[in-house]
Amino acid sequence: MDIKKAAIIGGGTMGNGIAAVFALHGFDTYLIETSDALLQRAVKSIQSSYDRMVKKAVIGQNDLETALSNLHGAIGISSVPQDCDIVIEAVFENLAVKKSIFNELHTNVKAECIFASNTSSISITELGADTRPDRFIGMHFMNPVPVMKLVEIIRGYSTSDETYTTIHNLSISLEKVPVAVNDYPGFIANRILMPMINEAIFALMEGVGDKEAIDTVMKLGMNHPMGPLALADFIGLDVCLAIMNVLYEGFKDSKYRPCPLLVKMVAAKKLGRKTGEGFFKY
Ligand code: CAA
Repeated sequence: MDIKKAAIIGGGTMGNGIAAVFALHGFDTYLIETSDALLQRAVKSIQSSYDRMVKKAVIGQNDLETALSNLHGAIGISSVPQDCDIVIEAVFENLAVKKSIFNELHTNVKAECIFASNTSSISITELGADTRPDRFIGMHFMNPVPVMKLVEIIRGYSTSDETYTTIHNLSISLEKVPVAVNDYPGFIANRILMPMINEAIFALMEGVGDKEAIDTVMKLGMNHPMGPLALADFIGLDVCLAIMNVLYEGFKDSKYRPCPLLVKMVAAKKLGRKTGEGFFKY
């Protein structure tokens, strides 16, 4: 199947990054938000990401103008074009909310349209079961989307080979590197990354080292670009907690229990960069 028209649901960090990449690579791209204020914020963020690329000569002025002309903003699920070839959902990690979005889309858009979710850990099989399971797939991009090369492509239980091949080829045309993953809690990225972050928070809670010591060990000792605590702030502590809970409930294994300090910080709304404070202040 040839993908030309794409809709991205949700203009948060991941959604606006995904929309930026689609528009830049020549796709007719619709970014869907719930209000004009949120849409304006998402477009501003895309604009500053493009400006950064122009400044670094990653793209030229012509690419910028073409990308902006490919990008359309709209409000509400009902404004997703009926003839869309793919819809990528990138709203917050809540199964019921995501399911209700796909249910509404299912009645609105053409039957051939592929449904994809950027969920970081919720089951693709479960998300797709009520609508079009053979044309349902996970496309898990990494933050910051314009920079990170990886896309985890998650096959649900009923995802067809044709859907998988289309999404594999689409990822390559977005200049990303697709990796095939089967549908188990946390997929590959967060199955490995989140327990590491959670363990770093345990180390902080138990006083093994202070936050600078923990991050420095991982940056200088393992060559990670960011320490695990700074990375947790970057991802959002609420997102980290939600993913740990998916792992814990999915495997029923105590090794995935969320660190009590992570739980407490989320309760205190110290969510990281987006609230101005997490393990570090911004
Ligand atoms: N849009 C466009 N370009 C961007 C950008 C954005 N939003 N953010 C950064 N860049 C570009 C910069 O322009 C810069 O480009 P050049 O190399 O050409 O100069 C490059 O990216 C590096 O940026 P900076 O120099 O500003 O900063 P840095 O060197 O400290 O790198 C970083 C920043 C890329 C975020 C780096 O610290 C990094 O790779 N961190 C780890 C990120 C990571 O692990 N992401 C995955 C998180 S997990 C996830 O997303 C999935 C999940 O489910 C939780």
